[in-house]
Amino acid sequence: MSKILVLNGPNLNLLGTRQPDVYGSETLKDIEEMCTAHAAPLGLSVDFVQSNHEGVLIDAIHAARGTYRGLILNAGALTHTSIALMDAIASVELPLIEVHLSNIHAREAFRHTSFIAPVALGQICGFGSQGYSLALDAMSAYLAEAHKE
Ligand code: DQA
Repeated sequence: MSKILVLNGPNLNLLGTRQPDVYGSETLKDIEEMCTAHAAPLGLSVDFVQSNHEGVLIDAIHAARGTYRGLILNAGALTHTSIALMDAIASVELPLIEVHLSNIHAREAFRHTSFIAPVALGQICGFGSQGYSLALDAMSAYLAEAHKE
């Protein structure tokens, strides 16, 4: 089984009660359980890290090398500000898929810029919690293809 690390950034621990009109009513625990269930038939196992601290996320990305085959990241607001996260992702050379619950391109202009997108395989946004399942599907397909080479 290939191991995937799902990382969630600032304020995503508050899902369920945080602006449910924007982010939905599921908690992060609900999303993690859904990811675990969705990953199993894909032959993936998932671990989760959530932190409100940029450095903790960077350390987790560094530590993923050698253990995880891929990363799924919702960096929250750090998406729009963190060159350090972008550099960490580029440094470890692990495939990463960027996820957002909301459609960041349909929101305030400051959310339209992502420092994660240039170092990601791709970005999934606007599909709520389903975005994490879509990311697992995409990662599974990517790893299967990469394995053939
Ligand atoms: C978010 C979008 C970001 O702009 C915001 O700062 C978040 C959540 C999303 O999942 O839609 O914290 O990443």
